[in-house]
Amino acid sequence: MYKEFSNINKLHNCQLVCLIGESFLTKISHFSASSLCFEKKDLKQDLDKKVTIKVAKENNQNINVKLSGYFTTDKENYLSFIIEEKDQVFFFDYVTERRKEEHLDLCLYQDVEAKDQFTGFSSFSLIPESLPELDFDDIKYDQIFLGKKFSAPILITGMVGGVKQAVFINENLALAASKLNIPMGIGSQKLAVENPKFNTKFELKNKFPNLFLIGNLGFTDLILQKDPVSYCRKAVEMIQADALAIHINVLQECLQPEGNTRFKGAYQVIERICENLAVPILIKEVGSGLSPQTAKRLKACGVSALDVGGKGGTSWNYIEHLRSNKNSIEKPRETFRDWGIPTAFALGTLSNEKLGIPLVATGGIRNGLMIAKACAIGAQMVGIGLPLLQAAAQSEHAVVDKIKNYIHELKVSLIGTGSKSLASLNNKICVGRPFESQFKSQIFKNLN
Ligand SMILES: Cc1cc2nc3c(=O)[nH]c(=O)nc-3n(C[C@H](O)[C@H](O)[C@H](O)COP(=O)(O)O)c2cc1C
Repeated sequence: MYKEFSNINKLHNCQLVCLIGESFLTKISHFSASSLCFEKKDLKQDLDKKVTIKVAKENNQNINVKLSGYFTTDKENYLSFIIEEKDQVFFFDYVTERRKEEHLDLCLYQDVEAKDQFTGFSSFSLIPESLPELDFDDIKYDQIFLGKKFSAPILITGMVGGVKQAVFINENLALAASKLNIPMGIGSQKLAVENPKFNTKFELKNKFPNLFLIGNLGFTDLILQKDPVSYCRKAVEMIQADALAIHINVLQECLQPEGNTRFKGAYQVIERICENLAVPILIKEVGSGLSPQTAKRLKACGVSALDVGGKGGTSWNYIEHLRSNKNSIEKPRETFRDWGIPTAFALGTLSNEKLGIPLVATGGIRNGLMIAKACAIGAQMVGIGLPLLQAAAQSEHAVVDKIKNYIHELKVSLIGTGSKSLASLNNKICVGRPFESQFKSQIFKNLN
């Protein structure tokens, strides 16, 4: 029995409760798409087999299950159940929705960034120009990306979608993005593609027809599809997306209790999608940082842009640790909080490869100076997630104010280096501190 459930996932902080007979209530502790189990301290083999699983948040909906057995680990005893087929889709959607809510709650109310917050940008400096021979108003910072001209090199990176709270957040982000003429991504559309019930939560283009909207799916979801191209088309058509981001997040899937760990065949699937989809495909790493080897193979698949998705900002490996149950059978997963190539280093190495496709720098970008450095290192666009999510949870104005602030700092960085536009930034960056070695050798000479 233990073997049968050894790779069952755990369900954390979920509102599912199990009512055994009339009185015994307990929380579900493990689950898969078709079965679940819960801890029971005093295991009784003659347990009443009529068990009702109540889902608290959805009109007290019941899931019908059949007792299938029990198993014991060195810590606990578990009862296990098979979910009746007719309830499996509901259960799966329910769990996915709860997971997204948990992610959102953690991102809004807890520290979820890399512990050291090291993005690598502090290792670079822009080279100051004391007398720029420019007026502040002369500074241009517009950028062309995926065939469209945007007012600033800022991309609101894909975050939420599908769940109820996401509607308010996405609308605030979309309002700000269309007002400021910058592109916006949405969070994974997996739920909506697989269940039409969630479609309505993505209606942004109707309200903001000029918005450049980037759809989003995970590569692990695509690998599982018989027809990944149609799956992607469905996602694009559903929101009238101008581009599609495919996120790659291997470590998070491995650390996530219900994660999908089938990774083989990714390049082949991505190539098929690039060949057959009418919109540009952006491949988006989420925290590990793309290496040049991976980037070159992705370029050969025909992708239109790459988001380096480096380390230093939101740490999904840590978020999954926060979600995990303290009493879980597996070990705690804080280990990978600071995993990944820091964003600036991933960007620098990829930029050096001169791949000929636009690079987006996402991961821990928190001010306009970082945006300027990223552009100087070779990013066409800079993706910002967490701070804009937190602003969007307040209001559209909070998002606009935050982005305007980034833009102002970007302009200050441009004038401070004597750069009239983003293009002239690329020879204004150095590793370390500008003039430091010259200064040191000068001092040394004088002292001798
Ligand atoms: C609440 C939340 C949900 C996210 N969901 C997705 C997602 O569904 N798909 C995706 O590609 N990235 C997702 N991300 C990752 C962001 O797009 C971004 O890559 C990451 O947060 C790093 O940027 P940051 O450090 O500025 O937050 C999400 C981020 C947050 C904060």
